[in-house]
Amino acid sequence: MTSLKFFGHSCFMLSNTETSLLFDPYLSDNPFHISSAEDIDCNYILVSHGHHDHLGDAVSIAKRTGAQVISTAEVARLCGEQGCKHHAMHLGGKHAFPFGQVRITLAFHGSGVPGGHACGFVVNFYGSNIYFAGDTGLFGDMALLGRLEKIDYALLPIGDNYTMGPQDAAEAAGMLKPRFVVPMHYNTWPLIAQSPEDFRHDVETRFSIPVKIIQPGETLILE
Ligand code: NI
Ligand code: MN
Repeated sequence: MTSLKFFGHSCFMLSNTETSLLFDPYLSDNPFHISSAEDIDCNYILVSHGHHDHLGDAVSIAKRTGAQVISTAEVARLCGEQGCKHHAMHLGGKHAFPFGQVRITLAFHGSGVPGGHACGFVVNFYGSNIYFAGDTGLFGDMALLGRLEKIDYALLPIGDNYTMGPQDAAEAAGMLKPRFVVPMHYNTWPLIAQSPEDFRHDVETRFSIPVKIIQPGETLILE
């Protein structure tokens, strides 16, 4: 059984009985206050870029648990300098981890660190392909990502202002053609307030792709 817990914003835990992957561990300062960083246990931490609402508590969690940080070279190095186990990758690169393959994808967004680049991830987790888009604008090569790997779950930002809004994220879903879509990066602050129900209706009517809305604190069991 594979589960996906949502901590609000873009923070998720993907896990089964063997392995836990934490994405963009924004916990201490996360307005949803689902969990404190001290209560998190995981094996890997995937960081999409260096902005505070994504890098978050990565360093403290990695140092306490021994979890390995997986990110682009600049962010991975930043974590390594602070004493974290880390694995540096970069855009377009793939690597086989014990749980499965990770591909680092493009994300059109600031990196938050000098010389870096924001990214997304396609993670093959024991056979399920999860695309975590990170913070990004819409780009046409998302269609290519959907061809390279058959995506089971696409986690897409819908907040607008800093990232894709709901209309652009619906277009992204149409290009990626995943089995399911999960919206993220919305309702954290008034500036990115969105209706995930309206987004779901749009994606389901236009593309017949089911949208799973996970409330902060809730866990989705993956099909
Ligand atoms: Ni950002
Ligand atoms: Mn962000």
